[in-house]
Amino acid sequence: MVEKSIWDISAASAKRPPLQGDIETDTVIIGGGMAGILTAHFLEQAGMKCVVLEADRIGSGQTRNTTAKVTSQHGMIYDRLLQSEGAEKAGLYAAANQEAVERYRILAKKYQGDIGWSQCPAYLYTTEDTGAIRREHEAVKRLGLPMQLTEKTELPFQVKLALKMEGQGQFHPLRFLYMLAEELTIFEHTKVTHVEENAAVTAQGTVRAQKVVFACHYPFLNSPGYYFMRMHQERSYVLAVKKAASLDGMYYGIDEDGLSFRSAGEYLLLGGGGHRTGKNTTGTSYEYLSSRAEAYWPGCKEMARWSAQDCMTLDGIPYIGQYSKSSPDWYVATGFGKWGMTSSMVSAMILSDLICGRQSQYAEVFTPRRFHLQSSVGTLIKEGGYAVSGLIRQAASIPKEKLEDLRPGHGGIVEHDGNKFGVYREETGKIYAISTRCPHLGCQLAWNPDEKSWDCPCHGSRFDYRGKRLDGPAQNDLECHIRREN
Ligand SMILES: Cc1cc2nc3c(=O)[nH]c(=O)nc-3n(C[C@H](O)[C@H](O)[C@H](O)COP(=O)(O)OP(=O)(O)OC[C@H]3O[C@@H](n4cnc5c(N)ncnc54)[C@H](O)[C@@H]3O)c2cc1C
Ligand code: FES
Repeated sequence: MVEKSIWDISAASAKRPPLQGDIETDTVIIGGGMAGILTAHFLEQAGMKCVVLEADRIGSGQTRNTTAKVTSQHGMIYDRLLQSEGAEKAGLYAAANQEAVERYRILAKKYQGDIGWSQCPAYLYTTEDTGAIRREHEAVKRLGLPMQLTEKTELPFQVKLALKMEGQGQFHPLRFLYMLAEELTIFEHTKVTHVEENAAVTAQGTVRAQKVVFACHYPFLNSPGYYFMRMHQERSYVLAVKKAASLDGMYYGIDEDGLSFRSAGEYLLLGGGGHRTGKNTTGTSYEYLSSRAEAYWPGCKEMARWSAQDCMTLDGIPYIGQYSKSSPDWYVATGFGKWGMTSSMVSAMILSDLICGRQSQYAEVFTPRRFHLQSSVGTLIKEGGYAVSGLIRQAASIPKEKLEDLRPGHGGIVEHDGNKFGVYREETGKIYAISTRCPHLGCQLAWNPDEKSWDCPCHGSRFDYRGKRLDGPAQNDLECHIRREN
């Protein structure tokens, strides 16, 4: 079994050189994930020159670890949107995502090749109370979305009720991304350290442009925009098994412990075990998925496991549009809430319209400059609470664990000479100690036993046990002290 996504092990892209020196272009795009590459593609199609700057390899962020369901059925969103935003905006949200599905279909046809595109239905299902699905059905009926209630699915257990939406899609996200990227100007291993008005600055050179797009998953600048006050991150886990059923549809369980399912060639993907990043104390996410897979398809074989995280906004709608009032030439695409395939396409549609000076009928729904009291204030207060408790924990909490009690293969927070350290004891006896203070804004990091990483509950930065940065918004590694025990 590999600890990588099935996309990662079945696709490769040509290496791109790092930036060397200073250059100029029309638009510089920071981040070569699905949002950045699609936006660059749309801009190039419109005749604009673009440069994509990617800190690592293209597709190496969350995009390589997605489950790549292309659907406008985003969980139970429409009932909520109708109540908080009204029928017009909820309808525009639906239309933008339906157009996104359609644009994937057109691109898949145009760029024929092995991108595994197939049209299929999407389902929401429950094995418990049917009230929420019935309410969602009423909402989508009002918005004219083609979804029907059904009790029949291909799942190996009885559902109480499901909501089926025809005409959605699934594909191989990395092969698609690599193919689109072939015609673009991209610099890999080129991390943007800061942005000065119309210049993206890296250690190897600067790209000057009329427009700057932040498509780097979580914007790494704290101001302007203050995205850290408006987003947290949530992780989920995926298992790919063989010798299980082959499903035609894509399934999303709406119950608290509900799982998602889709087939991908010979694999069946199970996703779930989600939690706020930095809040995985028990470390049984993969075991849970394994036990479900074995219960549903006895004898199935685990082939791969992986995980990813995504940004969650205050009101559940992505932030796509002008970065902030004080930076008219900057744009952002973030906060996809685990629905980043269509949201990346919606980003490309809106941002290419705005940058090319065209009207976008969807821009107002997704504008990052919105603030809706009703749908946002509760989450804003909760987020503030998380940040305060993360800071207090770092400043004042006393570690309960002792270094000598830490078993090989485990991590924990311990005190040593009056200082607090996050410590991991390797099976070989080596001890790795890092500061538990998150370099982003100082919250206390927490041990993630499933992935042997230090994760921040405030905004979702992550580091491996050696202190290497895995996920932003933090931009730097942690200092790590290594000691060998006899
Ligand atoms: C488990 C899981 C399953 C999912 N399944 C689905 C699904 O089925 N359908 C769906 O629609 N969505 C799904 N999503 C969501 C979707 O995968 C993401 O929303 C999407 O991949 C995000 O794409 P992105 O381009 O915004 O980010 P990324 O893919 O993370 O790309 C951002 C890029 O920016 C680069 N970068 C960061 N900082 C800098 C810097 N300073 N300089 C230069 N480059 C930088 C990174 O290296 C990275 O390559 C899922 C999410 C999770 C967690
Ligand atoms: S990610 Fe913001 S404080 Fe850690």
